[in-house]
Amino acid sequence: KIVPVIMAGGKGTRLWPLSRAAAPKQFLEFLGETTLFQKTLERVSDAGLYEPPIVVTNSDFRFLVAEQARAAGVALGSILLEPVARNTAPALAAAAIVVERLHSEGALMQVLASDHEIEADATYFDCIAKAAAAARAGRLVTFGITPKEPATGYGYIETGEDLGNGAHAVRRFVEKPDRDRAAEMLAKGGYLWNSGMFMLPVSLFLRELQQYAPEVLEAAGEAVAKARHDLDFERLDDEAFARAPDISVDYAIFEKTPIAAVVPSPITWSDLGSWDSVWKTGRQDEAGNVADGSTTVLDTRNSLVISRDIHVAVQGLDNVAVVASEDAVYVGRLEDSQSVGKLVKHLAALP
Ligand code: GDD
Ligand code: MG
Repeated sequence: KIVPVIMAGGKGTRLWPLSRAAAPKQFLEFLGETTLFQKTLERVSDAGLYEPPIVVTNSDFRFLVAEQARAAGVALGSILLEPVARNTAPALAAAAIVVERLHSEGALMQVLASDHEIEADATYFDCIAKAAAAARAGRLVTFGITPKEPATGYGYIETGEDLGNGAHAVRRFVEKPDRDRAAEMLAKGGYLWNSGMFMLPVSLFLRELQQYAPEVLEAAGEAVAKARHDLDFERLDDEAFARAPDISVDYAIFEKTPIAAVVPSPITWSDLGSWDSVWKTGRQDEAGNVADGSTTVLDTRNSLVISRDIHVAVQGLDNVAVVASEDAVYVGRLEDSQSVGKLVKHLAALP
């Protein structure tokens, strides 16, 4: 069986002010329904295919994870807690060590982000099966999405040689290119977006970490060895984990490893990482507006308007995001959605 590893430690700053330090996007109900984290748990709930999931998250979110898993009726295999945020490479290194210990050296882990909207239909599970086969054949497998625009928030994968069974070698992996580079790759063709989901043979993933990110592996290894069991949680050792470089798995491993493969995946997928993607994914009315909560929208087009509490009225604007939480309001152009993180850094620096 496959061991699901869910990454749920991101801060989601680009979705300010709904996504906050205390409750980032993966734990929020987006445009109604259940939270993105709970939807992620649902996708790995088939007990015939999956072991109980392992969640790796920041210590600050431990109660959100435990409560939301309980509410979703999912029994977790383990909850690994990071004392400080070091991005996804150290988090996945720690998770891989734990998976190898709990299961076996030959275990496969499926890494899932918790900020995606994905339709878990037959096509999706077909891609999972193809990825598992390619992983068993010795590859670190990514899932490729057909790119739609020169987005700068994704990894780009140049597909190489056909490996059979729906997988291709990865010729090149370019994480978060600038606009010009992204446009170039889109025009050239033969590139897919990295979905942010991976299928990994644990032993090979650890071998590649040893090769390309030894400091990450060393710090994560010691943090796991000295971890403290606390209630339902495994607390990674503070001092050791803090030594890990702050780097994502995309930069640390996927841009470097020669054994990556990609399964082109015609799935319904959306990274709800920024306001423009929330707008694209949402239910648009005839004027192209997506409105949620207590709102009035008049003479306005192609805009996103969300209010959790107070009533928000928008008149005569186009292509904007207006998002109000209990205590803060954001107004900006949808096309500038990637730079909300910059605004949040600026806010954090205020006295
Ligand atoms: N445990 C843990 N610790 N999880 C983290 C951390 C961390 O320090 N940082 C981020 N995560 C989680 C997030 O909560 C999210 O579920 C996932 O890891 C990916 O992190 P993001 O910060 O959302 O990454 P991204 O969207 O900028 O880029 C990644 O996803 C894209 C597709 O959505 C990359 O893999 C890109 O290549 C990819 O295209
Ligand atoms: Mg993301």
